[in-house]
Amino acid sequence: MYQWTERDHEDMKIRPIELAETIPAHWFTHPGMHQTDRELVLAKTWQYVGHESQLTKAGDYLVDEIIGRPILVVRNLENEILCFSNVCRHRGGALATKNGSARALRCVYHAWTYNLDGVLVGAPKFEGVENFNKHECTLPRYRMESYEGFLFVNFSGDAPSLAEHLSGVKETIQPINLRGMHFYKRVVYQVKANWKVYIDNYMEGYHILHVHPGLAKILDVSGYTTTIEKNKVLQYGPLAGEDNPYHTGGAAYYYQVFPNLMLNILPGRVQMNSILPIDADHCLTVFDFFFDEKDPAKLESRAKDDLDISDVVQKEDIWICELVQKGLKSGTYDKGRICVQEERGVWAFHNNLRDAYRHIASKQ
Ligand code: FES
Ligand SMILES: [Fe+2]
Repeated sequence: MYQWTERDHEDMKIRPIELAETIPAHWFTHPGMHQTDRELVLAKTWQYVGHESQLTKAGDYLVDEIIGRPILVVRNLENEILCFSNVCRHRGGALATKNGSARALRCVYHAWTYNLDGVLVGAPKFEGVENFNKHECTLPRYRMESYEGFLFVNFSGDAPSLAEHLSGVKETIQPINLRGMHFYKRVVYQVKANWKVYIDNYMEGYHILHVHPGLAKILDVSGYTTTIEKNKVLQYGPLAGEDNPYHTGGAAYYYQVFPNLMLNILPGRVQMNSILPIDADHCLTVFDFFFDEKDPAKLESRAKDDLDISDVVQKEDIWICELVQKGLKSGTYDKGRICVQEERGVWAFHNNLRDAYRHIASKQ
C-alpha cells in the first residue's frame, strides 16, 4: 500500500474551485497508489458486473475478472443470482473461462464439480483422502445486489446498499426507464493510462472541441449543466433538433458514480462504462450497451450508429489519456489549475478522491 507523506496530507485538503489545484501526478503513477486504489477504494465500493437479462434461466453464468478477482455470476435453481469467486477449492483452477450455461459448475483443471449454490458435489478419485468433507468445500461467495436489473458486486461486503449508492438515478432520468433496457453487447478497450486519468477526461467537455472534432459538430454542449451530488457528478444536456443519432429529443444524462463507473443514459439507450485498473499505468474501459428497442432491424441500425460513434470517440479519448499519462510520468509536471467554467466535474472527482484518501490515511 501507499505510504502517505506530509505533502500528501496537504494535497488532500479541499479548496474552493477558484483556488483549487488538480491532485498531484504521483497519485496517478505510483505503484503503491494503484494498490491503495484497488484494495481500499474500489474493492470497498460497488463494482458493475452485468445485467439480469444476460442470465435468463437456471445455470446461465457470466465469467469476469474485476480488480484482480475472478468471479462467476450464476442463476441458481431458486432463480437467485449469486456471485462466486471463480477459484476452485482444490488447487485454484477456474470453474469456467467464458460465459455459458450448465447444470453444475465443473472445474476446468481436475473436474471437481459444484452445484449452482457453490457446494462441492463431486471430487473424482478422492476416495482415500482422510478428514475431507465435500460439503465444507463451498465456493467463496461475494455480496451481489441488483439496481433495476443491473448487477453489482461488493468485495468487502460492507458497502452501503446498492440502492443507496445509486440513489436518485432512476428518478432523475424519467421518463427513461432503466427496467426496459436489454443487454446488447460488451466492448472493451485497454488504455495505457491510470484509471483516474480516464475518469478525469470524462468529467469535462473542455476537450471536446479539440479532441473530438466529429463529436463537436453533432453535440451542442452549450446547454450542458454539471450537478455535483454526494458520490455522483451528473452532466446533463437536452437533445434537440437536428438529424443525427444523438438528437432524438429528450435529454442525455452522463453520470459519474464514484469511484469508477459512468452511466451514459440517452432515451432508449444506456451505456454502462466501468474503468478497471490493471496497474498504475494501465486500465480497461468496459462498455456494456443496452437498448430498449425490440424490433430486430431497428435495433441493429440504432446500435450500429451508436457503436460506430462511440468507437471513434473512445479512440480519441484513449489517445489523449495515453499522452497525459506520459506527461504525468515525465517529472516536469506535478499539479495544474482547474477551469472554473468547464472543469467542475474534475474538481468534484478529485475532491471525492481526497475524501477517500483522507479516510484511508486516518485509519493507517
Ligand atoms: S483445481 Fe479445480 S479440480 Fe483441481
Ligand atoms: Fe472525450
